[in-house]
Amino acid sequence: MKYHINLDKGKIENSRLAILPGDPGRVPLIMELLDAPNKLASNREYVSGLGYSKGAPILVISTGIGGPSTSICVDELAQLGVDHFIRVGTTGAINKNVLAGDLIITTGSVRLDGASRDFAPIEYPAVADFFVTKALEKAALQLDVRHHIGITVSTDTFYQAQERHNGFSSFLLPKHHNSTERWRKLNALNYEMESSVLFTMCASFGLKAGCVSGVITERGNGENIDLPGLVSTQKMAAEVAVIAAKAIESNFEK
Ligand code: URA
Repeated sequence: MKYHINLDKGKIENSRLAILPGDPGRVPLIMELLDAPNKLASNREYVSGLGYSKGAPILVISTGIGGPSTSICVDELAQLGVDHFIRVGTTGAINKNVLAGDLIITTGSVRLDGASRDFAPIEYPAVADFFVTKALEKAALQLDVRHHIGITVSTDTFYQAQERHNGFSSFLLPKHHNSTERWRKLNALNYEMESSVLFTMCASFGLKAGCVSGVITERGNGENIDLPGLVSTQKMAAEVAVIAAKAIESNFEK
């Protein structure tokens, strides 16, 4: 039994694929898209459930926000034999052509987080698995949803490292001044907070990971979250993640 996620191989029925939302509240919404969903465990930020695709188990488990909690979740799942991971989350657009409601499929992440440095030196690339990424793209095309594929900036802080001025303190360290514009010039698409550790871990462990995120704020237009669009954007990202998960699972040797 793994200490933090409160799961063992029996409970997860030897699933090889996990869908990873950050938010525990999104687990039931993703589970609804699978056959015969049932709740597994709930401990701290780690809420999990199991559903099926053509009789094969697919695990859904929340990671909590950010690198440290994500790293624990991914490590314990890997210890249980999970070797494919699809992160599904929300994100802030950096690129001005990316609009609220669009999806972003990340090919590689800028490692602004701290946790990924405990797995590999900073020169090591935080890259997604090619085949998981292709499956996510195929799912987005199938659903005919606006999507963008490219580089994500993955941070430890939501306010400071994403250059927000609406946190408790409007003071930002000099390194954060105009950082969004600098990332825009470097062709980054979006901000989020988990993909860099997920990709660094999986690439360096020889496991496979991808990431799809729904855009809930356009950082070229300020700091407001698109609250009216939140539910539908999350649902679309979840549908893409589940279609991709089912396609990947169907290719596992039986
Ligand atoms: N998640 C982030 O990390 N940033 C955003 O702007 C929205 C969601």
